Amino acid sequence: YSEKVMDHFRNPRNVGEMKDADAVGEAGNPVCGDMMYIYIKVDPETEVIKEITFQTFGCSAAIATSSMITEMAKGKTLDEAIKITRKDVADELGGLPPQKMHCSNLAADALHDAIKKYREKMKDKK
Ligand code: FES
Repeated sequence: YSEKVMDHFRNPRNVGEMKDADAVGEAGNPVCGDMMYIYIKVDPETEVIKEITFQTFGCSAAIATSSMITEMAKGKTLDEAIKITRKDVADELGGLPPQKMHCSNLAADALHDAIKKYREKMKDKK
């Protein structure tokens, strides 16, 4: 693992459940059965992600990538955040071992799911 992966694994940023989240994204890893949750709070005017946290029952790679993605997505608009790909996260971490790529996909998938759910919710309100 790269130094950056180890850093995010040892000191994960933005960990924890957000009780008053605007939307919660979910992703599961079919290979190992681990789960990932991403909580977001969004400014309805600007669509900027104001707060973002994660919870995972995954391995060290899953923890490191979700920690990384919360830092990447924070302060971005939903349009920008949805463009963060699985590969962006891995690149930002300085690469991941190939056998761990499926773990790192969880974070991007859960983030995209959270954005999708938030948008559905807002649509219903209009
Ligand atoms: Fe399950 Fe990595 S082994 S998320």
